[in-house]
Amino acid sequence: MRLTDCHNYEDFRRLARRRLPGPIYNYIDGAADDEVTKARNTAAFEEVDLLPNVLRGVADVDLSVTVMGQKLDLPVYCSPTALQRLFHHDGERAVAAAAENFGTMFGVSSLGTVSLEELRRKHSNPQVYQFYFHRDRGLNRAMMERAKAAGVEVMMLTVDSITGGNRERDKRTGFSIPFRLNLQGLVQFVMKPAWGINYVTHEKFALPQLDDHVKMGSGTASIGQYFTEMLDPTMTWDDVAEMVELWGGPFCLKGVMSADDAIRAAEIGCQGVVLSNHGGRQLDGSVSAFDQLAEVVQVAGDRLDVMMDGGVTRGTHVLKALSRGAKAVGLGRYYLLPLAAAGRPGVERALGLMRDELKRDMQLMGRKSISELSPDNLRTRG
Ligand code: LAC
Repeated sequence: MRLTDCHNYEDFRRLARRRLPGPIYNYIDGAADDEVTKARNTAAFEEVDLLPNVLRGVADVDLSVTVMGQKLDLPVYCSPTALQRLFHHDGERAVAAAAENFGTMFGVSSLGTVSLEELRRKHSNPQVYQFYFHRDRGLNRAMMERAKAAGVEVMMLTVDSITGGNRERDKRTGFSIPFRLNLQGLVQFVMKPAWGINYVTHEKFALPQLDDHVKMGSGTASIGQYFTEMLDPTMTWDDVAEMVELWGGPFCLKGVMSADDAIRAAEIGCQGVVLSNHGGRQLDGSVSAFDQLAEVVQVAGDRLDVMMDGGVTRGTHVLKALSRGAKAVGLGRYYLLPLAAAGRPGVERALGLMRDELKRDMQLMGRKSISELSPDNLRTRG
């Protein structure tokens, strides 16, 4: 199986699985508890159907949107995700370059493996900094000041991870950062020599957003331990209000789900919210972002840009979310598995397929621009 054999999400997933050591593949693909919410995220899109219009002269389609003050050529962006150089040795460098090529925004995680400064210097597309609120308040301020000094456009505070989700696949494989593997995991690494050679012959694994500040305990920790030990579960709206003020630019919260919380976000000066359940990786059994869109968009009015992520594998999923009022849609595993499968060409192929699908689906819907989509072109089954 080669990259040219990948025509959709499942194809990339299969290729990534072949290339990656089991513990790493399962870290990306896995979610919390029984992974019910992860499955629900995609299934939710299939309960609503698109209602097309015809004969509207749709030769040219404009897929651009403006979100958080940023003009994007596509209504999708690469959500911030952790540890990318573990998946492919180019990691964030590949993703930022691919996103730039497609004129869209990319996220850099607090747990990123390339520095936010390097990426900001090399690329001109809008950059989001994904932020975790650490117990160490000095660290929080320092991290924010660093991002501001680098010229990062958008601050995105993750609010659904004050404690670690129950990632049972990681427990089974012994996945940890940087690495300590149980015997079973070690066997998996030996079985993927190409990945192993790349890993040891490229720049050493690092977390440059945190390096100056955080010593990851005695050496290794699971992601769940990191959340639980490093992040501050006492965080409240007042803390975030201070951060919004300190940032003084576009600020959004990722992981808001309820209308009440969206209203609070607007009240403390946030410009946006990302409806997200963290790809089903935190609270299993929680609602899908797509199912919450209508409710939140209604209270948001003109005060907030509502974005969403979770379970997107098709252009039609994106069109359904935009029809419900999302301003843009975040992709996570959708580009991570292609990154793991083939590096930058993989991410570019995935984004290219998404762009083709979006254009074709817009034409088949009889729409020339994203603003022509509305809840009127959706029908709920049953
Ligand atoms: C995760 C974090 C790191 O879901 O975002 O694994």
